[in-house]
Amino acid sequence: AGGGFSASAAGATGSTGSTGSTGSDPLAFDKDGYTTETKTVSTGDGDRKVTYRLYKGVVYVARPVDTKYQSLNVSVPVEIDGRAVDATGAPILLANRIGGYLSSSVTSDSGPGGPGGPGGPGTPGGMVSNADWGLASGYVVVEPGARGRDLVAPDGTYDGVAPAAIVDLKAAVRYLRHNQGRVPGDTDRIVSSGTSAGGALSALLGASGDSPLYEPYLRELGAADASDAIFAGGGWCPIADLEHADMAYEWMFGGSALSSGEVVDQTVSKRLSTAFADYQASLRLRGKRGFGPLTARTYADYLLKTYLQPAATRHLTALPDADRTAYLGKNAWITWSGGVAAFAWEDFLAHVGRKKNVPAFDSFDLSAPENNLFGFGTTKARHFTPYSLRHTTGDDGARLDRDLPRTLALMNPMHFIRHPGPGRARHWWLRVGTSDTDTSLTVLGNLAAGLENLGDDVNALMYWDAGHGANQDPDAFMRWIGEVTG
Ligand code: DHB
Repeated sequence: AGGGFSASAAGATGSTGSTGSTGSDPLAFDKDGYTTETKTVSTGDGDRKVTYRLYKGVVYVARPVDTKYQSLNVSVPVEIDGRAVDATGAPILLANRIGGYLSSSVTSDSGPGGPGGPGGPGTPGGMVSNADWGLASGYVVVEPGARGRDLVAPDGTYDGVAPAAIVDLKAAVRYLRHNQGRVPGDTDRIVSSGTSAGGALSALLGASGDSPLYEPYLRELGAADASDAIFAGGGWCPIADLEHADMAYEWMFGGSALSSGEVVDQTVSKRLSTAFADYQASLRLRGKRGFGPLTARTYADYLLKTYLQPAATRHLTALPDADRTAYLGKNAWITWSGGVAAFAWEDFLAHVGRKKNVPAFDSFDLSAPENNLFGFGTTKARHFTPYSLRHTTGDDGARLDRDLPRTLALMNPMHFIRHPGPGRARHWWLRVGTSDTDTSLTVLGNLAAGLENLGDDVNALMYWDAGHGANQDPDAFMRWIGEVTG
């Protein structure tokens, strides 16, 4: 039976003295284990006061490595602006707070991936919390913690490196589906969201639904024996396709200087950029609306026409006339004609600049976060591309272990787009700022094109002049959840 939530208990705590009906199932959700909370959520159309039931720190696996991370929060709105809401059958927004591929806990407010991390509520830099908007929109919001690359066991083992985070997210989904009817919300309508590393993992969660490749890891944790397919995947500035990200970065930013004015090693940059052409060709993607093959040669034109010029046009259209005139005065490389913005790729690149050195992800000295993500055992950091392995200046991890091809696949949504399975999400929301230089814009472009080419429903666009972590249309995302799940 459903949770039977009503607004009548709002203001009271849920501890009714019942022991719940968990029986002998260690993964049964205790529907009485909540407290009643209130919060004010600022949305585009003003503040909304939400009363909600909070189930905090619910452990989602039977054999956890660390419950601080392998636990989730469930928030169920019962009253919004004084009006009772019944979220019993509402879609579930699975909003991860993962940033930097670091560990993320929902039971502790400190730590690298806590609420201060990218994607979390109240983050600096104007990032908007999808979790709070989801709650204020009447959805059940589940925030899963997950292990991350920073975790080290007492014996020195790096036990949060790849693929721990995606295994944990899958275990959280399985927990929810296992508790269908006990946990509030519609477990067949799980929509995932995340930003940056969390955006990549959210896209991966959607693309890899029910893949048997994760089974041994899930079994080891005592994850529920249930589907881990989700209904829809949302990803903001996903830092995905890591083993091809160095090539993609040089294809896009190879000719751009760092903000210090320094120009990166052009020999290395050109080698990687050349390799991107082969990789991109191997994907055999086609651009949307009859664009044709998406290759290293056509990609700049594709980004301009499909994403960048439309983004600039939307931005400039929304500005008051005086502000638009001022902006165009400062950015003479943009032409504005008939209400449409146009510009050249090289001018756009000069406008955004470059953030990371070369190689951007698999750094020769093993110092990039991604080197740590692909750590193994007691080795903190490894190379994960043959190119950087050959050029290593690091003194450990300088070997491509035999597990790596599989581990890379387990972390890469593109793997599951190239080898699609029946459990893949069919609805997608993808966003990135045009000034986000944390990874190449082709990463989002390829995710979107790959999913479109599979026939999925893909809502992808870019935010003009926005940087890393931007979320400028959360209201539209919330409406979209209602539409696709309706
Ligand atoms: C994130 C940012 C990066 O530049 C990166 O390489 C990995 C993760 C992040 O913000 O999550």
